[in-house]
Amino acid sequence: MLLSINARRHSPADADRPWAVNTRWDFSDHNVLVIGGTSGINLGIAQGFAQAGAKLGVVSRSQEKVDAAVNTLSAHTEAIGFSADVRDYEAIAVCNREFSERFGPIDVLVSGAAGNFPASVAGMSVNGFKAVMDIDLLGTFHVLQSAYPFLRKPGSAVINISAPQAFQPMEMQAHVCAAKAGVDMLTRVLAMEWGCDGIRVNSIVPGPIADTEGMARLAPTQEIQSAVTASVPLGRHGNKEDIAAAAMFLASPVASYITGAILPVDGGWSLSGVASLGDALKTMASS
Ligand code: COA
Ligand code: NAP
Repeated sequence: MLLSINARRHSPADADRPWAVNTRWDFSDHNVLVIGGTSGINLGIAQGFAQAGAKLGVVSRSQEKVDAAVNTLSAHTEAIGFSADVRDYEAIAVCNREFSERFGPIDVLVSGAAGNFPASVAGMSVNGFKAVMDIDLLGTFHVLQSAYPFLRKPGSAVINISAPQAFQPMEMQAHVCAAKAGVDMLTRVLAMEWGCDGIRVNSIVPGPIADTEGMARLAPTQEIQSAVTASVPLGRHGNKEDIAAAAMFLASPVASYITGAILPVDGGWSLSGVASLGDALKTMASS
């Protein structure tokens, strides 16, 4: 499975990467389904697994994004895509079933569909709060419960994509805080309920990841982006490869005794810096 890890010392060419690590994974006997896998962090995860030879499925609402993602992934491996909304249980159940009919049991399931916008509780409609709860939390339940019959037992790995808001209160993010806290609780409970099936369930908590829709929405100005960088102990935004590497680690036998973990991959951001982003969003909204 793990072919090699070559960790070499930092050189000036790696200025934005404190450590340059060359990993070669082989997931060629794995079937990987990434829900919300057509852009950003989740597409980065799908690309990591595809480059390691896994057979890939991606799901999101936009048929156009699904087609583009499948096209990108097909350069490396066999890939299929489905247009579905995680708020529609039946539609998601069909994706899980058709993916496993095509490739076999699901070895790795990534649940990462989410929605976000900055808004205070007083300034948010009931439907705005509900939209994020329905996508992030209820959607995760839909994805995981409907996938259960199709997960490889024993041996599969489920990875939920959480956020620092799950454990760090942040102003203008009540909907996301509530939803992602629920996602991490689903991770923990399902690690207990599904452990006896040999299914591991973990969460990844990305920090601020460069060139993503999430950061475009939460840090729309250069000033806020710079403040975010300054609040990360490692002094940089993360990149999609950082998250893909963590996902491949969690999915691999190297992590075979890890379940129910909430793994921050955030340069240390969640230790102290996250709440200041809420302050910046509040200031921006009031100016
Ligand atoms: N501020 C306050 N309320 C907002 C808002 C904003 N910026 N954007 C949307 N809403 C409200 C809408 O007004 C609506 O409430 P209403 O019916 O009372 O007016 C509610 O949220 C749902 O909006 P709608 O556009 O109908 O929802 P949708 O299901 O089409 O989209 C979202 C869901 C709102 C989460 C949308 O932003 C989305 O699709 N996001 C996916 C991409 C994303 O967020 N990526 C980052 C992940 S971290
Ligand atoms: P993104 O590119 O917008 O990714 C969201 C994905 O989910 C898209 O593929 C989107 O495609 C899909 N999606 C959204 N709503 C959906 C729905 N109702 N049904 C099915 N699919 C849906 O955003 P991102 O910033 O990369 O975020 C990805 C994940 O990382 C999210 O879980 C987010 O909470 C988490 N995260 C991000 C950051 C960050 O720095 N960006 C930090 C912490 C956590 P469609 O529009 O086609 O549906």
